[in-house]
Amino acid sequence: MITVTNLTKRFGPTVAVDNISFEVHRGEILGFLGPNGAGKSTTMRILTCYMPPDEGKATLAGLDTFEDSLKIREKIGYLPENTPLYNDMGVVDYLKFIAEVRRIPHSKRKTRIKEVAQQCGLGKEELAKDIGQLSKGYRQRVGLAQALIHNPDILILDEPTVGLDPNQIIEIRRLIKDIGEEKTIILCSHILPEVQATCKRIIIIKEGKIVGSGTPEELAAQAQGEEIVYITIQGPQEQIQQQLDKLENTQEYHLLSSENTSHRFEIISKKGIDLRKDLFQLVVDNQWSLTEMQKTQITLEDVFKQLTTEEN
Ligand SMILES: Nc1ncnc2c1ncn2[C@@H]1O[C@H](COP(=O)(O)OP(=O)(O)O)[C@@H](O)[C@H]1O
Ligand SMILES: [Mg+2]
Repeated sequence: MITVTNLTKRFGPTVAVDNISFEVHRGEILGFLGPNGAGKSTTMRILTCYMPPDEGKATLAGLDTFEDSLKIREKIGYLPENTPLYNDMGVVDYLKFIAEVRRIPHSKRKTRIKEVAQQCGLGKEELAKDIGQLSKGYRQRVGLAQALIHNPDILILDEPTVGLDPNQIIEIRRLIKDIGEEKTIILCSHILPEVQATCKRIIIIKEGKIVGSGTPEELAAQAQGEEIVYITIQGPQEQIQQQLDKLENTQEYHLLSSENTSHRFEIISKKGIDLRKDLFQLVVDNQWSLTEMQKTQITLEDVFKQLTTEEN
């Protein structure tokens, strides 16, 4: 349904999107996950024909974003980051305006507005208000309704729950899942639980590049067998780090905090290795003190953290 091939976009010296390729299949909800500034919104702006790429190409439903932008826009619903809604416009007037822009025949507009309002959980009470009078959660529903009004096959949602309270987040996620039953969706987010809750497949992007992809289970399995040990050692920091650098069975470690001579580290093991013996021996050999040592399995959250913070 969506094919992206070697897409690159630069802003001056910044490479916002760096040679990425991926596909989204019909009826799929794809999570596009990455920290702020990773290039998610830029990629979506290219897919929705709001800006051209510098290199590479993207096709949606067989149409090229560059050559067939008008046709593509008919097939896409887009909820941009920070949806620009007109606060002093009535909800119904706004949706009428969008229906007109979307060239929905006059005779069908009323019915169509009713349908999307119902689909997005906008009741009579909300429809009677101005957009500016609505809570942020309901404003986001209006944003979704405008994205859906022309019944597009593809829906692109950029950070749809930012700024919502926890209950609103749950409701919007449920709504997205429902809509996903019949449409192809790309959901951009910098929040792992968000894509985990709604998406069957995840692409992780960092500094414009794809650094991981798969189902949540596949991504978690990549790290299976790796473990994290949290350890707090009292001793001279420089010496401790020198010794940790030398440990063979560690994959990487991070200093989490330091207080006087007490230093807390997060240490990731190589696959299938229990580091605790090595670490204990190290502390004994150097006559430092050990005030904490605990081991946990790596979760998808850790994988995401590793993929997006590691220097590659
Ligand atoms: N219009 C623009 N002009 C200049 N730089 C931009 C523009 N849009 C995005 N960028 C830069 O491109 C990079 C990716 O931004 P963006 O796609 O918004 O990331 P994300 O949506 O993942 O947070 C960032 O470094 C950002 O500052
Ligand atoms: Mg963004």
